[in-house]
Amino acid sequence: MINEKIQNVLSRLEKDIDYENSHRDEVPSEKRLNCISKNIGTFYNIMLKSIHAKNILEIGMSVGYSGLWFADAIMSNTQYGKIITIDREQFKIDSATQNFEEAGVSSLIKIKKGEARKILHEIKEEFGENYFDFIFIDADKESYIEYFDLCLPLVRKGGIIGADNILLPERFNEMMKDYLSHVRSNPNVQSVTVPIDNGEEVTIKL
Ligand SMILES: C[S@@+](CC[C@H](N)C(=O)[O-])C[C@H]1O[C@@H](n2cnc3c(N)ncnc32)[C@H](O)[C@@H]1O
Repeated sequence: MINEKIQNVLSRLEKDIDYENSHRDEVPSEKRLNCISKNIGTFYNIMLKSIHAKNILEIGMSVGYSGLWFADAIMSNTQYGKIITIDREQFKIDSATQNFEEAGVSSLIKIKKGEARKILHEIKEEFGENYFDFIFIDADKESYIEYFDLCLPLVRKGGIIGADNILLPERFNEMMKDYLSHVRSNPNVQSVTVPIDNGEEVTIKL
């Protein structure tokens, strides 16, 4: 079961997401939320409960839809977990802040505003290596390989790096092919594509 207050906000956001998906041409690209699907949210929620995740890092927050799925898992795992989530767009930060407040999860989520690359370096200084149980990569697709290399030291052994948009939209396919060959050539991880909706690459640090 999902926490009731979180579920209410997820359901409200799903209406906006459905509208965006069915009226793609009416929503200017810079205003799109581009959130994960409900299926993918459920998938990660189950996975995070299963690995008892406490500390989560997200690259690409948007309005906090995926973050709410992660927050629900953390709350069912521990009283002491946290999510660090990164975005550079102020209107998305404003909206996510409200959504997190309404869902009652603000105290466990720290939003970092700015360029993900720079913030990832700061996070390494602040939290050190092997700190996170789960890292979700869902920002600019051309930087996925760089994000993966910055994130691998940050995730603990047995922790997971998830990456969205492995299968769709098609315009990202070439970049995702490069991401997969980069990840899968690393002997310190094991990795598989889970073909739900836009497709997730799920990578465990060995
Ligand atoms: C696909 S959306 C994230 C969706 C969110 N994970 C969800 O499912 O609810 C990508 C987000 O990454 C942010 N972003 C893209 N490139 C970025 C960068 N280089 N640094 C920081 N944020 C970035 C965008 O502003 C956008 O809100």
